[in-house]
Amino acid sequence: MKGVVLAGGTGSRLFPLTRVTNKHLLPIYDKPMIFYPLQTLADAGIRDILLVTGGHSAGDFLRLLGNGKDFNLRHLSYAYQEGEGGIADALRLAEHFAEGHSICVALGDNILEMNITQGCQEFERTGHGAHIFLKEVPHPERFGVPVFEGDRIVRIEEKPKQPKSNFAVTGFYVYDTTVFEKIRTLRPSGRGELEITDLNNYYLAEGSLRHSVLDGWWTDAGTFESLLLANNLVAKGGANKAGAQRATAKTKNASKE
Ligand code: G1P
Repeated sequence: MKGVVLAGGTGSRLFPLTRVTNKHLLPIYDKPMIFYPLQTLADAGIRDILLVTGGHSAGDFLRLLGNGKDFNLRHLSYAYQEGEGGIADALRLAEHFAEGHSICVALGDNILEMNITQGCQEFERTGHGAHIFLKEVPHPERFGVPVFEGDRIVRIEEKPKQPKSNFAVTGFYVYDTTVFEKIRTLRPSGRGELEITDLNNYYLAEGSLRHSVLDGWWTDAGTFESLLLANNLVAKGGANKAGAQRATAKTKNASKE
């Protein structure tokens, strides 16, 4: 399995902090934000990662991360997203890199207390479909929100005004090799972007989307509130704790199987 970290965007929700730098280079306690999702992928055993960036400061990622040896990577590759096409649009740039491998995707502003190792390992057993990671949150309306029937997900709604569950779809996803042909069928949403939620709903309609619930805390860091929260959580107890063996996440199959 290869890894993709998405670190583009203008970071407009964090202006003026992001007027001259990329959001993912801002500090979360004692490290730049991008270190955390990179560490999560490395902890899941991924050694070959593509970093997709865009906007300002693209060159700074190269200076900061080099060839990824701080994360014990075999290769760290880079791609540049022109414009603001959304998360699924940025993911398209990984097609050459993936070369027939499944991919684990991390949004560059997502930070975890524990890890995603168990979900990745379960995905590898079949190697097909997709796997998403959920977390119960106090304000699901900011995120992709699963709608359940029993313990099955029947659809995912992006930033619903009235969320139908208390879960967020976090910014960690595992996709099989069909992901790029699926992205090609997506159409821009109301905000003019190719939505990752539409991609996940495609897998769901096909009956091949699995999910698990993460242990420990999870947060993104793309707003002032969540940036402060992320800093406090990391300062208090640290992130990316080695918890693979302790993880109790139950993997559910939302498919018709
Ligand atoms: C994105 C996704 C959303 C997901 C969230 C996780 O939202 O669109 O489905 O729940 O990341 O961080 P954004 O942060 O781009 O608003």
